[in-house]
Amino acid sequence: MDRYVVIGNPVAHSRSPEIHARFARAAGEDLVYERLLVEPGDFARAAREFFASGGRGANVTLPFKVDAFEFAHERTPRAAQAGAVNTLALRGAVVLGDNTDGAGLVRDLTANLGLALSGKRILLLGAGGAARGVVAPLLGLRPAELVIANRTSSRAAELARAFAGAGPVRHAGFDAMGSGYDLVVNATSSSTHGKPLLLPVGVFAPGATAYDMAYGAAAGPFLDGARAAGARASDGLGMLVEQAAESFLLWRGKRPDTAGVIAALRAA
Ligand code: ATR
Repeated sequence: MDRYVVIGNPVAHSRSPEIHARFARAAGEDLVYERLLVEPGDFARAAREFFASGGRGANVTLPFKVDAFEFAHERTPRAAQAGAVNTLALRGAVVLGDNTDGAGLVRDLTANLGLALSGKRILLLGAGGAARGVVAPLLGLRPAELVIANRTSSRAAELARAFAGAGPVRHAGFDAMGSGYDLVVNATSSSTHGKPLLLPVGVFAPGATAYDMAYGAAAGPFLDGARAAGARASDGLGMLVEQAAESFLLWRGKRPDTAGVIAALRAA
């Protein structure tokens, strides 16, 4: 049977095996999908061994997305733009690196949450790897502007500069992030440290959506604050399933149905 893995550290908590097992069952595809725990510094060796022993493809999660980018023989344009790889696929003798995170976010926002963001104002919080991966896909929605705000303002400035050619993007400090956004995306790791972000009053426009790229309890602090400020709130579970669906499409040539899987994971 064709073998796939998710590589990470830690990886025990990953829901990817369950998601891909559901996709495979629904699509009638015969495959095995497992977790692969790798020690820091050991990514290239472990990935080489996996593909040498017949592995067909891998998802890559923290902290290895840049290692995976360097490991890939070839990269898709969206992986090159993100500077990180979350999906490896064997193509003959070549390992192709792709990044499906941004497409997963965009699909959750548009297809699942029904947001129309053309001409709207978007605030992106954070300037690390998670934020970098979604800047170009968000600009692809043709917002009126995308503002990147980060605790360390210089990192937001750097990120905005890197994507200046891709659309109307600028940076702001945490102390001056502005107000009246239609969508606020949390791409910081603040909630995993249990420290809620303090957002200024008025950051949300009437009818705005707050989106945390984390899911479950990790998204709680940010989304609770957003709800209290009157925003509609969504965690990143839909993004997780949608990025997995994009990986599945790359590997198997079929886009699986996601709505049922998202509902099943929510219920679990
Ligand atoms: P990732 O790949 O998950 O983005 P990262 O590159 O370490 O991880 O980036 C973490 C992001 O979360 C950064 O934008 C970081 O802000 P700084 O650049 O100022 O460090 C942000 N972050 C982490 N903890 C935070 C907190 N308590 N408050 C605000 N921002 C925080």
